[in-house]
This record gives sequence, C-alpha cells and structure tokens, in this order.
Amino acid sequence: MIGRETLARDLERARQRTLALTDFDDAELHRQYNPLMSPLVWDLAHIGQQEELWLLRDGDPHRPGMLPANVEGLYDAFVHSRASRVDLPLLSPEQSRAYCRSVRAAALDVLDTLPDRDDDAEIAFRFGLVISHENQHDETMLQALNLRSGAPILAPRAALPHGRPGVAGTSVQVPAGPFVLGVDAATEPLSLDNERPAHVVEVPAFRIGRVPVTNAEWRQFIDDGGYTQQRWWSVRGWEHRARADLSAPEFWNRDGTRTRFGHVEEIPGDEPVQHIGYFEAEAYAAWAGARLPTEVEWEKAATWDPGLGARRRYPWGSDEPSGRLANLGGEGLRPAPVGAYPDGASAYGAEQMLGDVWEWTTSPLRPWPGFTPMIYRQYSEPFFDGDFHVLRGGSWAVGADTLRPSFRNWDHPIRRQIFSGVRLAWDI
Ligand SMILES: [Fe+2]
Repeated sequence: MIGRETLARDLERARQRTLALTDFDDAELHRQYNPLMSPLVWDLAHIGQQEELWLLRDGDPHRPGMLPANVEGLYDAFVHSRASRVDLPLLSPEQSRAYCRSVRAAALDVLDTLPDRDDDAEIAFRFGLVISHENQHDETMLQALNLRSGAPILAPRAALPHGRPGVAGTSVQVPAGPFVLGVDAATEPLSLDNERPAHVVEVPAFRIGRVPVTNAEWRQFIDDGGYTQQRWWSVRGWEHRARADLSAPEFWNRDGTRTRFGHVEEIPGDEPVQHIGYFEAEAYAAWAGARLPTEVEWEKAATWDPGLGARRRYPWGSDEPSGRLANLGGEGLRPAPVGAYPDGASAYGAEQMLGDVWEWTTSPLRPWPGFTPMIYRQYSEPFFDGDFHVLRGGSWAVGADTLRPSFRNWDHPIRRQIFSGVRLAWDI
C-alpha cells in the first residue's frame, strides 16, 4: 500500500513540473510548434480533465463534472488528433490553470479520506495513474518545446555528472536461464495493466550494451555511409529512409552542430544518441554487427539479480531514484554522458538502464499472458495490434516517481521527436 504522504508528494511534484513547462504567455501556450504535438494549453487542461475523471467521477464521463460536456469533449485525446487541437475553442491558459487548481483541491480532499476507505488500494492505484498521466504529459510538452522554433525559452535547471571514459562500445553478458518478467500489484501497486502479471520466462544467453550508443558512435555510422547503403536497412526501413530523406538523427544540423530547445551547440560525443527512429536503430545495429534487444532481454538485464534469484525493484537495488543513480525528472534537459552513473548499474553491470534515453526494442507491444485491462481500458488495449515498437527504460524527461523497470512505452517505428536512443545486443 502506497502512503497518502507519498501520493500527495508525487502529485505536487508533477504539478510543479507542469506549471514550470507552461509558465509562458498566452500566445506561446496557444502556438502549435509541430503537427505531431498539441499546443501546450491543450495539455494543461487535459491533465486536469483526466485527474477529475479518474479521481472525482469514478472514471465515468457521463457523471457531471466541473466543465460543460461540450468543453470537456475538447480534451478527449481519442476524438481530437494532435494536429487538430490548435483549431479547437480551448479554455484560455488562465481558465485552464484555475480548472486544474479546483480539481486538485477536490482530489486532495479525496486523498484525505484514503485511510478510512475499504477500497483504498484501488483509490491509491487511481492516484498513481493520475500522477503517471501528468508526468507523461510533462514529457510530451518537453518534446513539443524541443520542436519549437525561435529563441530558447527553456534552460537546464540542474547540472549532470561527468561520464567515464572506456565504457562506450562495451557490453555485459547475461547467462541463459529463467527470470520473472513483469510485476504484480502486491510488489508494485502502482504498476499499470500492461506491466502485469509477473510470470517466469526462459531467456537464452545474450550480451547487451553496458551503456546506450553514443553520438560519437553514431557519427561513425554516418561517416561510413550508414544512411546511404541499403544493406544495413530493412525493406520498410529503407523505404522510409528515402521517403523521409533521413541522413542523421533529428535536430542534427549539416554543420555538425545540433539544435536542442532552441540552443545550437556542439554535439557531445559521449552523450547517448537521441531522436532516432526504430528503423535507424535497426540499421545502426546491423552496421555494428549487433542487433536490438527484445524487451524481455532488456528487462532481465535491468532487473534480475542472479545471486538472489529474484528481481530488484530498480536496476541498482531498492533505493528510490536519485541524482546519484539516474538522470530523470527533466531538470538537466538532456541525457547524461555514458558512464555517469556507475552506482546505478544492474546486477549484470548494465548502466543507465533507467533515465537518459528511451531504448528501442524489437518487440511489438503485446499483452503479457493473463493481461487484465485496468479502469483506464484504453490505455493499453487499443495499441496491442498496431504497428508499435516497445521502448524501455525512460528518458531524462520522465518523472522519477513514475518509472519502474517494468514500464513499457511504445511508438510508431518512424517517430523521432521522442527522446529515443538505442542499446545494442548480441547473441552468444
Ligand atoms: Fe493524456
């Protein structure tokens, strides 16, 4: 059972992030930076709308809420595409903030009743869902702000640790054997439906990168003609490469610099590469004489402790994530250099499994055996049969309070505005 104080703290942390990412003038919040993204003002009120739905209206959209039904409908993500949201008669930033405040005040009243309720585990889960949802939108807003043109309006608010030389390009071995994939409510009460249930799987031996692939390594791929030689690419990947005219990660400029949140800068060679799509990751791996990991391999390398014969809660053990262990929370605005978190290594020695960049895996999103949808039925189920690849590990922009090694993200293989990178794997 997650305590009331923890839930209140995590709600507040998520809200501070949201407010910091929307602390701009009205015109800025109504801008659409890119058709892939919503205007920030949509995300802001949508965060409140989802919080009201799950915490105050029992997940029932027909139960009257604080907004008129026609206004609430503007914030239904399944009805209005991201590209179309800029044309909707949205609430103003001031109205959106006031609505979020009213919802939050009522939600905190519900939280106060928590220990007296006999359905407290279910209510705590819903709070976890809402905290996770807000943090996921904070990351989405960071993606939008990264796509924004014009002079920078965001600056890093935290320094990141230095990397360690000699770790890029190295790998660790994971011997063959069973492990427990996924989690249960008993051990991870806030885990979402697609992370459950825990079940034993056999995994053949493999090697996996100690750290994600770096910008310097990706530069070698480019210089070696990686984007111009069809032999490294899948058929679909090569078609997409030609259609989209890909020649480097998104946001890399022709003069060897990159643009990040409006800042033009040298590309740090020891930082994990980001803003690559699945097809590029696949081609890079082929060029490097490797492959991408499956998500099952990834989770074993991140969580299994062969000495204990049990999962660790985090790659490094049971301590809560901190700035010593992983780059999470978005304050640094970028991935940390490889080797920056030796204390965050998994039992097998893999580093930076959580934070820094989402890592593409070969796995399409599928339910684990015994999958049961949660109250938010549309969170996972509609995506199981689509063209989505799973990404693991969370990026630097993910809220530390909501990330678990069992957490599964997914996206279309062509997407690159996400904070996506890659870690290699090899058969033994
Ligand atoms: Fe949402």
